[in-house]
Amino acid sequence: MISSAAAPSNGTVAAAAPAAAPAAAATSAGGSLRQQLAAAFQMAIDTAFPAMAGEPAIVVACNQPKFGDYQCNNAMALHGKMKGKPDAPKAPRMVAEAILAQLPDTGMVSETSLAGPGFINIRLSKDFLADRLTNMLREGISSWAPRGFAGKRVIVDFSSPNVAKEMHVGHLRSTIIGDTIARALEFCGADVLRLNHIGDWGTQFGMLIQYMAEKRPGGLNAATDEDVADLQLLYRAAKARFDDEEEFKARAREAVTLLQGGNPEYQQAWQRICDASRREFQKIYNRLGVTLTERGESFYNPMLKPVVDDLMERGVAEESEGAKCVFVEGAQIPLIVQKSDGGFGYASTDMAAVKHRIHEEKADWIIYVTDMGQATHFDLVFAGAKKAGYFPEGRTVRIDHVGFGLVLGDDGKKFRSRSGDVVRLVELLDEAKSRIVTTVKERRPDASEEEIEEASMAMGYGAVKYADLKNHRTTNYKFSYDDMLSMNGNTAVYQLYAHARITSIVRKSGRDMDELVQTARVRLGHEKEVALALHIARFSEAVEDMLDDLLPHRITEYLYDLSTVFNQFYTECQVVGSPEEESRLLLCEATARTMRACFHLLGIHVPKCRI
Ligand code: ARG
Repeated sequence: MISSAAAPSNGTVAAAAPAAAPAAAATSAGGSLRQQLAAAFQMAIDTAFPAMAGEPAIVVACNQPKFGDYQCNNAMALHGKMKGKPDAPKAPRMVAEAILAQLPDTGMVSETSLAGPGFINIRLSKDFLADRLTNMLREGISSWAPRGFAGKRVIVDFSSPNVAKEMHVGHLRSTIIGDTIARALEFCGADVLRLNHIGDWGTQFGMLIQYMAEKRPGGLNAATDEDVADLQLLYRAAKARFDDEEEFKARAREAVTLLQGGNPEYQQAWQRICDASRREFQKIYNRLGVTLTERGESFYNPMLKPVVDDLMERGVAEESEGAKCVFVEGAQIPLIVQKSDGGFGYASTDMAAVKHRIHEEKADWIIYVTDMGQATHFDLVFAGAKKAGYFPEGRTVRIDHVGFGLVLGDDGKKFRSRSGDVVRLVELLDEAKSRIVTTVKERRPDASEEEIEEASMAMGYGAVKYADLKNHRTTNYKFSYDDMLSMNGNTAVYQLYAHARITSIVRKSGRDMDELVQTARVRLGHEKEVALALHIARFSEAVEDMLDDLLPHRITEYLYDLSTVFNQFYTECQVVGSPEEESRLLLCEATARTMRACFHLLGIHVPKCRI
């Protein structure tokens, strides 16, 4: 899955071009159903056509479920490639037949058929599916993690707000999307470093510190915690002065030099500002249950000059209009690694960061989560890093920019508070939580204060996350409390209810589920049982697809379909009191566990209190 150096995957931006191998082409056993089938078809292709060995097997979900569960699509392309060679099969169908003749008996397939010019339709064996679910229940759902990620070193650069500036909804999106991607990778056994690349360095600090110093008669030493209590206000006031007063501007510039030169008093003030911001950011992370390792821009500061010197020495960067630039082919603008006034900017830091992440952190994959507006910046950085030779020979490193769209208000314009200000994220989350409290109380009048608190946090914050993640990340979406907190439709609230309902079926049966899991087995007869089992077993593919394109809505879509398929099963198949009770309870349990695995990936907490 981790593809060749900087290979682009759908919807992402990357630096170099070699095509990614299809996700399905796993050679080892284990992994998702699709990976396992692909491995079997790989063997069949290699045996049937040794000259074509290595041609990756293409197995996908069948687009017409009435013909099969999966299909293998290799015959047409193989036929084309062998055309004109001695003994080449005359038609794609003959290629398909030859592949089928060599298909090893893995016990997975109950039926195959040919369709169209040479598609192979595959029906999975019911016994195989039933065993797969039984085993998952016994071994845990992590046994279904897709293969190919374990042990990979992945850096996810996300959230990354700016010190002393507003943490806006864009940062909220980055936090939510980045956390989900990191969770999916962690689920698959990757070694994930979640980096918070906060903007804690740069000229704005000169302005802030100078303002603090001048506001107090006693100077910086007299500054108190109050000065940084409302950083928004501090920033605005300092900025206004900076824009209006030329002399203040000059003093602010000097302050930057003093700060960056290590002046202890200025450093201390900078620390205070960073700490105050950090406390604000942490309130959001605590509510969302997101963990991050802070490694802000300042971390790379000592590396900037050596990086630029090295780029200049090797002729990767050149001087242009006084600035030091890397010109990359096909780009309209250069990557400026040092500005004409000698300062280092956002791009300089990102170049140093790529280098550090590949060579010191030994990343196999680097993912950046920011709004789409930064796509050009990352294009340039990735191309610049490639030109600089930062991607090592002989080790594959994938790099992706995961861009996302805007959050809009009801009016379709950029999301703002009623007063027209930027929305404070803590307030936004609190609002979502408080709006659901009444519903929780109505549904569970007997619940304790503590239970209500837990459930409304889970549902309120979960709703915000889900409403964000369910959209294709590149589209803009409208933020609406009413929609996201609705009990009907594709919302976290609906999903949490659906989950609670399934667990109550199990609970009300009075059976000991742990014991049942160990002693009973899933058996599949009714068509709705089979459909449910198949959808449950496809959980790994949803994770695989999500990681392939780094599109979190693949998980919400999967989850939504899971509730739908479950409802169809539950409408037609009596569970408690039926002759199939044991197996059907196991199906309920498998559904609930798979839902919880989805919630986990989406960062949604499942409250203990049944709502
Ligand atoms: N601080 C930046 C912003 O608010 C995002 C940083 C993203 N990460 C990076 N390595 N450039 O837009």
